[in-house]
Amino acid sequence: MIRIAVIHGPNLNLLGIREPELYGGDDLDTINRRLQQLASEEQIELRITQSNSEGAILDAIHAAFGWADALIINPAAYTHTSIAIRDAIAAVRLPTVEAHLSNIYAREPFRRRSVIAPVVIGQVSGFGSESYLLALRAAKSVVERARR
Ligand code: DQA
Repeated sequence: MIRIAVIHGPNLNLLGIREPELYGGDDLDTINRRLQQLASEEQIELRITQSNSEGAILDAIHAAFGWADALIINPAAYTHTSIAIRDAIAAVRLPTVEAHLSNIYAREPFRRRSVIAPVVIGQVSGFGSESYLLALRAAKSVVERARR
């Protein structure tokens, strides 16, 4: 069994009504249900959290330490600013996949830099809600490779 913690950052609780032309029409519950569905097919146990506050995201990363084999995180706007989230990921040393619904490199200049990217295994950006499912497959393969 593989354990993966999924962390959704600020404003992602508003998916579905939030700028659907950028983020798609699926709400967070729908995305989480799809993640749970894929996880059960792949024998993965998930813990999913969403928070609008940086401190709670740090707590979720710390809580994953000792439980999770890998992390999937969409830090949302904190992607571009949060040294604290970057340091937390580096501290727990969990293999991490960074996920974004939109292609952050095709948007405003301030979104084109991720301060998180240097401490993750890789990034999935631009596939809408599918980014999370691709991130789950990527995280699983990273954990399996490390166990071999
Ligand atoms: C986002 C991209 C960020 O720039 C933005 O602040 C978000 C969502 C994405 O998933 O495309 O809130 O992380």
